[in-house]
Amino acid sequence: MTDTYTVQHNISLKPYNTFGIEAKAHFFVEINSLSQLTDLIKSPDYQTLYSEKLILGGGSNILLTKDFEGLVIKINIKGIEKVKEDDSKAWIKVGAGENWHSFVMYCIDNEWNGVENLSLIPGTVGAAPMQNIGAYGVEIKDIFDSLEAIDRATGKMFLFTKQECKFGYRESVFKHEFKNQYIIVNVTFCLSKNKQFNISYGAVSQTLAEMNVQTLSAKAISEAVIKIRQSKLPNPAQIGNAGSFFKNPEISKAQFIVLKEQYNMIPSYPVDEQNVKVPAGWLIEQCGWKGKKVGNTGVHKDQALVLVNYGDAKGSEIKALAEEIQASVWEKFKIDLKMEVNLV
Ligand code: EPU
Repeated sequence: MTDTYTVQHNISLKPYNTFGIEAKAHFFVEINSLSQLTDLIKSPDYQTLYSEKLILGGGSNILLTKDFEGLVIKINIKGIEKVKEDDSKAWIKVGAGENWHSFVMYCIDNEWNGVENLSLIPGTVGAAPMQNIGAYGVEIKDIFDSLEAIDRATGKMFLFTKQECKFGYRESVFKHEFKNQYIIVNVTFCLSKNKQFNISYGAVSQTLAEMNVQTLSAKAISEAVIKIRQSKLPNPAQIGNAGSFFKNPEISKAQFIVLKEQYNMIPSYPVDEQNVKVPAGWLIEQCGWKGKKVGNTGVHKDQALVLVNYGDAKGSEIKALAEEIQASVWEKFKIDLKMEVNLV
């Protein structure tokens, strides 16, 4: 069987973004193997015909505001392999195109622990390190070993260690110094065979208690996380969204003290000596946006951090709503909300 790729022309991206936004890709290609990817990069058209490139995983963190005039590369590289193990750990190498949640379920079935708090996050494994996905007290950096990525200009493969990825809150080197330079093709995770779990997040321990869980396990935690997510976050298969639209902002303790005098219920999480994080969902709710509908767009009724597409919204309409929200949070709190979703 030959391992070739097919570049298609004028393709709708609606099935490829969880916001369900209609936008066209001038050129579109699905990549199923490493050799297809290197062949594509070496092809003469790659440098000349396709001026701009957009790498797509699960499309769960982008907002398409217009048609894409270049080449959309959908990464479908699959495979899950145990590459090493000792008495207490297992190293699992995963193709970038694997579905994130399926990978989490696979780990739970094999009793490889550490990733259970990240259940039900939409998207692919390859996209996960880009923004160091996190939820319920765990971030990908906590179980990350290394990744391999292809240089978009030369097709050469490079290994990145955890340190080299420079993970931060929804941040990595791939959003900054190396922005638009690499395509992640696989990720290796280091998972634990020991039963050490993280139930520090209030809602998780509370839900486990409600579920009457006697013996803690990755499976029980995963079920609790799924329950919490399903109760607050809209399912993209039913209603278009990209999870949290904004990042939780960090503000100085000095500013927080002033705000606390005026709004004594304002929640916060410690960051360091000087700063605290404030939940953006709370700020947006205080500005009266929660559950509001604006044309075909809106702010979710159960979680104000999630913007939704109620039908045929355009990306530009969602962007306009996001900008209105930013303006009102700035006016009321003098806090600058930064978008977590990538605008294309
Ligand atoms: N809150 C409100 N109103 C709202 C939503 C939240 O007042 O409408 C306040 C409440 O005080 C609540 C607090 O915000 O206690 C925290 O809310 P939640 O537990 O829902 O978490 P979050 O801070 O809003 C973050 C992540 C989520 C992640 C959860 C759980 C960001 C930008 N978002 O949300 O990640 O699932 O914590 O760990 O950090 C995502 O990135 O797409 C995402 C869903």
